Amino acid sequence: MKIVFATGNPGKVREAAEILGEGFELVTPASLGITEDIPETGNTLRANSMQKADYIYKKTGLPCFADDSGLEVDILGGAPGVETARYAGPDRNPDANIDKLLSEIARREKEAAMARTNGLSTAKANRQARFRTCVTYINEKGEHRFFDGVMEGRIAYARAGKGGFGYDPIFIPQGYEKTNAQLGEAVKNTISHRGKALRAMAEYIKK
Ligand code: IMP
Repeated sequence: MKIVFATGNPGKVREAAEILGEGFELVTPASLGITEDIPETGNTLRANSMQKADYIYKKTGLPCFADDSGLEVDILGGAPGVETARYAGPDRNPDANIDKLLSEIARREKEAAMARTNGLSTAKANRQARFRTCVTYINEKGEHRFFDGVMEGRIAYARAGKGGFGYDPIFIPQGYEKTNAQLGEAVKNTISHRGKALRAMAEYIKK
């Protein structure tokens, strides 16, 4: 089945091709001549993923899907969340995003340690975090379906590994001692937020 993935992120395309496997011919917007940035102005993951899928469906009329993902860090009160891609600025620079996240967490950890020293709090800082994704699928009739996925884990103290994309060098999934970037795509896809949501989408489509 021919299906358009409404993304310009080659890392996501590689993962989705591997997760969906045979039976799906993954088409990118760029290969259809759609090279502009796909609009993403919503306040929630679902709104953004729907906006991206709607944009591509209106342009192509083909079955398509989009995902919108966010990283929630507990010590930052759930930030960056829906702002994950543009955390350090509008140019969506992954290196700058990681630098900002590590320094914000370090700052909060220092504040928490100070509060403990001063007897103002007994709370221990932790680096728990999760990736959340919402996938919107639109079929050839224009009907929408949504699929969610979550990957629990924690934020590392420094970058490790060369694989993956985005925040992968600093995200350690629950049950592992290595970052996503060290674990590699095959392992990441079996446990990731996107893996879960896209497998649910594939099952739905096959039914
Ligand atoms: P979006 O879904 O393309 O808007 O991505 C939101 C942000 O999360 C971007 O900064 C991505 O690089 C990052 N991101 C999304 N999924 C992953 C992932 O699987 N690993 C690491 N970073 C991710």
